Parts: sequence; C-alpha cells; structure tokens
Amino acid sequence: METKILTTHEISPAIRALKAGELVAFPTETVYGLGADGLSQAASEKIFYAKGRPADNPLILHVGGHDDLLPLVAGPLPAAAEKLIDAFWPGPLTVVVPARPEIPQAVRAGLNTVAVRSPSHPVARALIAGLGHPIAAPSANVSGRPSPTTAAAVWEDLKGRIAYIIDGGASEVGVESLVIDCTTVPPTILRPGGLDVALVEGIVGQVQQPSGDGPIRAPGMKYRHYAPNAPVIWIDTLDEAAAAEKIAELQRGYGTVAVLCRDNIPVDRDVRCMRLGTDDTSAAHQLFHALRTLDSHHPDALVVVWGESQGLGLAVRNRLSKAASERVVL
Ligand code: TXA
Ligand code: MG
Repeated sequence: METKILTTHEISPAIRALKAGELVAFPTETVYGLGADGLSQAASEKIFYAKGRPADNPLILHVGGHDDLLPLVAGPLPAAAEKLIDAFWPGPLTVVVPARPEIPQAVRAGLNTVAVRSPSHPVARALIAGLGHPIAAPSANVSGRPSPTTAAAVWEDLKGRIAYIIDGGASEVGVESLVIDCTTVPPTILRPGGLDVALVEGIVGQVQQPSGDGPIRAPGMKYRHYAPNAPVIWIDTLDEAAAAEKIAELQRGYGTVAVLCRDNIPVDRDVRCMRLGTDDTSAAHQLFHALRTLDSHHPDALVVVWGESQGLGLAVRNRLSKAASERVVL
C-alpha cells in the first residue's frame, strides 16, 4: 500500500479513509497515534497487523469529550473518572472504565473495560468529529519501538502499511498519556505519563501505584517497549561522577556507545551525546526523538543516565525501565 503524507490543512482524504476502514496516523499532543474507526472490529484489527501488536494489548478510544464517553460506559461513570475528566480533558489523561459489550473485542482485547481519552490536538479533534465515531489509536510505532513524536518517525516505522500520515510537526508533550483505572477505589495508575500524578492526586486524593513487582494491570506494560535497535543500558543514578566512570567502563566493553543524559556528565569528545536538561517537561518532550536520533548512528550500545525523579520525570523513568535491556543502579 502506498502511504501518503498530508498537511494539517487537507485532512478530508484521511477522514474518508477512516470511514472506509483504513488506517491513518495523526498528531496528538502526546505522541502520534495510529487511528482506525473505533466502533469497527475489522478496522481496529488492522492496527494489530500494521504494528505487529500482540493481540492481548487493548487500544485507547479517542473521543471529543465527556458526552461521547457516556455511550461507551457500562453503568454509571465512576465518580473518580467524572472528576478527572472534568479537570484534565481534553489532554494527556486516559481513563479505564467498564465497557459496553458493543465495543469491538479488538479494541478492548477481550477485557470488560475500555480505555478512553480526549486529545486536545486540533487535528485529532477534527478527525474524531469528521468520522463521527471514537477513533481507536495506539501510538503509531512498530510494536516495541520508541513512540513517534514526528511524522518522519511514523514514516520510518509504518510506510507502506497505512493509508495516510498527517504531519502536524513535533508532538508537544512527547510521552504518552497517563492511564488510570477508575474501576478500582481508589483509582490505580496503570501507566505514568504526560500528566503529573501529583495533579491527579490533587483532584481524587491518593491513588494506587502498583510497585514494579506487582501484577501488571495495563496489558501493554508487560512487553519490552520504547526500545531502539541498539541495546539500552540504563544507569539509574543522580551521581554524575559515578555515571561518567560507568560510561567509560561500558565504552571499553561495547565499543561505540552513544549517551543520553541530563546535563553535566563529562564524556569523551568522540562519544555522541544528547542532553535532555534539568527540566522534566522538556526532557519528556525530547526523550523518544533523542532515542531514535542516537540509534540512527548505529552505536553498539545506547547508555541512558537518569536517576530518581518526580512529575514527568517519572514517566521518563517508566519508559526507560521498559526500553532498557540492562539497568545499573549506582
Ligand atoms: O498518549 C497516548 O495515550 C497515545 C496517543 C496516541 O493517544 N496512545 C497510546 O496508546 O499510548 P498505546 O496503545 O501505545 O498505549 C495504551 C496503553 C497500553 O499500555 C494498554 O495496555 C493500556 O493503555 N490499556 C488500553 N486499554 C486498557 C484497558 N481496558 N485496561 C487496562 N489497560 C489498558
Ligand atoms: Mg504504544
């Protein structure tokens, strides 16, 4: 299949393609999504083939807002979902709620719950309105790869497999939405993301945050994820001198290493290094693009230094924990 790139000013071919059951990649404020008609089983199934996505990993339904959510929910909307939606929609918040049985099996991967979010990006909103149905959309990457934050990254992964890519420039947030299960009391964070957990707790009080070793609640979080081709070695420390020493040791072991860090770690002049800075919001914005960029130079290993952090820094840690083939705690 030929994949065509559209500008944000000519999205009607993409709406027609969605109506015909085809796949369209589109910008959202978090990362690019790979959209299909979310009320069509056949269209939603195509997402799994295009991405090589495991069949047991459910999709997020993207809606215009609260009123489009209600027909998807079995029974009353949980109180916590109501409050969170009121506070943070449209935006990087996904709520998991009891699903109506009419929602295609492919979308919820056989679960009796469904994940729903209302994106704020005007192109995403125009597509939802144009289709007149919720859009089922995971991130628009090949399964297991870093999520795309540019149209070029989508092209790299999915060219030839989908009808259209709408180029809306770089994603504003850069990491995916926070996913919160509102079927439990208190609600449970399934995936930290582009909305600070502290803001969520400001609205609904303390939430459950499963520890790394507990049962996995978001089916997608059990897979290796967000990973470039090179093995990712995650150095989990705030100690910059110790990190620099470890990088030198890894360099001796691996050959060429590329380094992704915050700011001050000294590395050899011949080591390719990208710096995410000390601001967590800006670091999250750059993360996936930096992983793809460093990987494009084919290092033998990609070393990422990232220590304890809060807010969006937590989402960065979570992505690294899934991308890393090795974690070194110093
Ligand atoms: O920001 C985002 O959320 C982006 C943009 C495109 O909206 N989408 C995204 O989708 O990140 P995806 O498929 O890459 O991640 C969805 C996550 C997965 O971890 C999946 O397992 C979880 O949400 N999820 C979906 N439905 C669920 C459900 N019913 N119960 C628990 N987890 C669910
Ligand atoms: Mg994804």
